[in-house]
Amino acid sequence: MNREEIDQLLAEINELKCKTQKEIEEARVRFLGKKGEVTRLFEEFRSVAPEMKKEFGKTLNELKQTVSNKIEEMKSSVGEEKSSAGSGQDLSMPGDPFELGSRHPVSIVRQEIVDIFRKFGYDVAEGPEIEDDYHVFEALNFPPNHPARDMQDTFFVSGGHLNPLLLRTHTSSVQVRAMEKMGLPIRVICPGRVFRNEAISARAHCIFHQIEGLYIDENVTFADLKQAILLFAREMFGPETQIRMRPSFFPFTEPSAEVDVSCNICHGQGCNVCKGTGWLEILGCGMVDPNVLEASGIDSKKYSGFAFGMGIERIAMLKWRVNDLRHYFENDMRFLKEFNTSTEV
Ligand code: DAH
Repeated sequence: MNREEIDQLLAEINELKCKTQKEIEEARVRFLGKKGEVTRLFEEFRSVAPEMKKEFGKTLNELKQTVSNKIEEMKSSVGEEKSSAGSGQDLSMPGDPFELGSRHPVSIVRQEIVDIFRKFGYDVAEGPEIEDDYHVFEALNFPPNHPARDMQDTFFVSGGHLNPLLLRTHTSSVQVRAMEKMGLPIRVICPGRVFRNEAISARAHCIFHQIEGLYIDENVTFADLKQAILLFAREMFGPETQIRMRPSFFPFTEPSAEVDVSCNICHGQGCNVCKGTGWLEILGCGMVDPNVLEASGIDSKKYSGFAFGMGIERIAMLKWRVNDLRHYFENDMRFLKEFNTSTEV
């Protein structure tokens, strides 16, 4: 054994590059195995002259340590490469693109309507979809034999004749709940799902959405109603929009009216959307009938109010010129994507 031999082994070890665990094991055997180079040097060490033992002993121990460290280091780094390569994955590949979902057009319009009325100071109230006859009909002044109470028009959940449970046919039921719960004055809008026993067509569906509005205070007049609807219509359909009110009838309002907006497509000239009239119907409304106020314990001599109700799908159809209500329920991606404002990532 001599100094040069040891230095040469050290250089060899430092140069060592193994690509696989197998090669590392071979290197370990070559240097540290029973017949390995380092082991051989330790054997030769026995015959080294006593005065040289100290120096060679130290050098040999350092050599053995260097080899062991190098082998361990290679074992862990080659192991890492192996796990990513061995899994068959190329970690440098770009990820799979995925599309973000977007809000449904009905939700977009509902939010828009809610935001407009929030600006006017209205709170949002909600009520149950499964309701009792009292909140859907009786408290709203529907006579006992009104056709809306018929099985042909309403889905009944439990058939008990005295107080049946049913799927609410309009969100007007929430105005009754608001009158029962909230202190006066009341200024609320009530968005929600409603259900009617209707054959599905381009203009009707058995499930749709409404927004109900209610304002009760002292001295509320029909002029306040008209102003509220006009401001809403202009926010929703543009500042040039005109409204007109036609006399109508609802059991829970007196007087009652239906409201049309000037056609936002032909601007009143007449087109096929407004059927040549220049007007589009958007909602029903009126002054809350004193019977309705009294049924909920409100003094109709002191307080008055107005209410209105509109179909969200109807507003959405007018806004986006969609001519078939069924599009809103079929969830055809080609349709829904038209309203996708989010960006793909
Ligand atoms: N509830 C009515 C419907 O479903 C809509 C409605 C009309 C609501 C007039 C009202 C109103 O509050 O005053 O057709």
